[in-house]
Amino acid sequence: MKYAITDDFINRLRAESDIIGLISEYVPLKKKGKNFWGCCPFHHEKTPSFSVAPEKGFFYCFGCQSGGNVFNFLMKIENIGFMDAVKALATKMNIPLPEVEKSAQELAKEKQLNDLFKVNDMAQEFYHSCLTKTSYGKSAREYLASRGISLPVIEKFNIGFAPPHWDKLSQAFMERGIDSQLLVNAGLAIERSNSNGVYDRFRSRVMFPITNARGKVIGFGGRVLDDTQPKYLNSPETPVFNKRHVLYGFEHAFKHIRDSGKAVVVEGYLDVISAHTAGINNAVASLGTAFTTDQAKQILRLSEEIIFAYDSDAAGQNATVRALSIVQELGAKVKILSIPDDKDPDEYIRKHGAAAFTDLLANADGLIDYQIKKAFKEIDYSGLEGKVAVVSKIVPVLAASNNAVEVNSHIAQISQTLAIDESAIRSELRKFIVQIKKDKTVNGGKTINKISLIKKPSVAVEQAEKSIIRLLYDNVELIPTVQALLSVDDFQDENRQEIIKFIFDAYNVEKKCLASAWYTDLSEAANVELSQIMLTEIPTDDTAKLVNDYMRMIRLTNLKLLYEEHRLRADELERMGDSRFLQELAESQRIKDEIKKTHNS
Ligand code: CTP
Ligand code: MN
Repeated sequence: MKYAITDDFINRLRAESDIIGLISEYVPLKKKGKNFWGCCPFHHEKTPSFSVAPEKGFFYCFGCQSGGNVFNFLMKIENIGFMDAVKALATKMNIPLPEVEKSAQELAKEKQLNDLFKVNDMAQEFYHSCLTKTSYGKSAREYLASRGISLPVIEKFNIGFAPPHWDKLSQAFMERGIDSQLLVNAGLAIERSNSNGVYDRFRSRVMFPITNARGKVIGFGGRVLDDTQPKYLNSPETPVFNKRHVLYGFEHAFKHIRDSGKAVVVEGYLDVISAHTAGINNAVASLGTAFTTDQAKQILRLSEEIIFAYDSDAAGQNATVRALSIVQELGAKVKILSIPDDKDPDEYIRKHGAAAFTDLLANADGLIDYQIKKAFKEIDYSGLEGKVAVVSKIVPVLAASNNAVEVNSHIAQISQTLAIDESAIRSELRKFIVQIKKDKTVNGGKTINKISLIKKPSVAVEQAEKSIIRLLYDNVELIPTVQALLSVDDFQDENRQEIIKFIFDAYNVEKKCLASAWYTDLSEAANVELSQIMLTEIPTDDTAKLVNDYMRMIRLTNLKLLYEEHRLRADELERMGDSRFLQELAESQRIKDEIKKTHNS
């Protein structure tokens, strides 16, 4: 069925829905003041830090920082997309979805996908029976047993065996009326090059069905029983099988990822299977291909932390480095587990046991530690040249951190290991930060908010930014004043930048700021930030003065940072004998005057 889900329809659902009733179906809630409280369903806790504000229609957990409106709640708890959440809510509320006739093309597309799911599902059963019920499955049963895979595990992952014949599956399926073209489209069979007919893609291989998050079979990975190459053969890309999207084991892992707040990402099928068998249920595999943004996003919808446990060989380590740059961009909390003695998680778990692997997980390195260790391992730092190389490798890593305390302790540690002065490292770091800021200013004209090492963004500024957003929600008439004095870039946090930009834009278009559009137009992270902001209590009188005070504070803080930046650059240029330092000095003087003016305003 196809539905015409309009903004009006979504707004109606949101307005008429009972967020307390809905959330109560999953979590017992108690009223305290205006809001309701309960134990968060998205992380483990004993004292309630999960709150719901029925008037505003938001929930927010002060423990794990998840939040949003009814739709976000359903998306998160059921692990579904926005449209599915809309449908689910409409169904719960007994509101029929507005229907639209489907075009012939859409019907054909739907049939194509359904056929692919169906034939993949049949193939899974076929392979599974071959493994468990037939005589030619014997060698595969022995192989799996030799790798420590028991019958319950075979059942859980629906492992199978592709018979050692050219066209057992094709013949059997065509006899059951399946068109050979469908077998080819699903990647189960290959067209013979000489004449007509097809033959099985997978032969004499242990078969691992690959499922999507909903548990539908979308493809297969087949492993040989011996040393034949290629070791693994996978389904080709099909309309239902997208390698960049798939996470092996996700179907079993997603609830555990959500509950534990962490996902363990491994390389292979057997790594996932061994991990789950050992009780590490939040493991998924990126399946040999490079970890993609798409895969990262699926995980980050459920948890903030990703632990990479790739093979300890060179290929695995290179894959780790690539994966890190992807997740870092997305703001994930990353840890890296290094497996001792050149093993992969599967071998390690089978040799040392589940507890030993759990220990490794608990002691996984943070991003900075990992990169520092890596630099020390790869570079001979006995001589001066090596020391310089280590520092220049580590400086960008430190610069990317927002945590000044952490950075300082790393600087101390590096200075000790390299036997060089801390100030030398700090000076390199400062140079690097000034340089990226300059680059960014040139490139995008956008002021940089990562000034953490020169000065940590203060809690007071954070509060000020949040309060302004909160006040604007109730006092739309103040938007133009704020817009005149602050730009989006004056906000220090990316999410709050997104929110304030949204508020400004909405006001510019409609002279109002419609909360109804928030959950669709804002990114997930900004939505969460907003829910938290909506749940904070704020004073209600003299809002105009409050907003002014907050704005002044933000402006002053930013101006001071800008001042420091120009001073630093002036110093730098002067030391290098570059006369442009005079311009920098003049600029810093101008900023100083502005600071004075702002103070007195
Ligand atoms: N892979 C693949 N094709 C290959 C080799 C590997 O698709 N020719 C994928 C598989 O998903 C495999 C993963 O990459 O599980 C990791 O590869 P590798 O480390 O070589 O295999 P293992 O998982 O260690 O497999 P096994 O333990 O069975 O040897
Ligand atoms: Mn292995």
